[in-house]
Amino acid sequence: MVDLPRIYDPRGNLTFIQNGDAVLPFTIERVYWTYDVPAGEERGGHSHHEGREMLVALGGSFCVNLFDGQRWQTFTLNRPYKALYIPPGYWRTLDNFSSGSVCMVLTSTHYTEDDYVRDFDEFLKLSRRDEA
Ligand code: TYD
Repeated sequence: MVDLPRIYDPRGNLTFIQNGDAVLPFTIERVYWTYDVPAGEERGGHSHHEGREMLVALGGSFCVNLFDGQRWQTFTLNRPYKALYIPPGYWRTLDNFSSGSVCMVLTSTHYTEDDYVRDFDEFLKLSRRDEA
């Protein structure tokens, strides 16, 4: 989890992130966001070969479950000034979306399906190969 800068202001607070900042371990190539996620839905269910991602709950809350091939860790994102960095090679699922939540994702790559591992057994094989 990464703390992003916060500019406090009685008119409303402000947070920002830009290429080159120490909190961002890659250069942003793409930004996408998910919204209108129905209660009880799960998103994600994949890993990336190369793509690095930074997730921020711009509104509401949700959980990110990360699996490195050996253990699962769950992070709750519920503040717009906290980010979760996901290096390549982590299987992730997102769940427990609150009503109205918005998940913004900063990524290091353009979208290409080739960068996805969507099959869990393949992910396990790849993570065992990387350990060997
Ligand atoms: P996916 O990455 O599986 O969504 P999530 O991990 O949030 O559940 O993407 C869902 C669909 O959207 C899939 O068909 C690919 C497409 N997509 C794009 O076309 N461009 C993008 O930048 C992203 C992230 C997804």
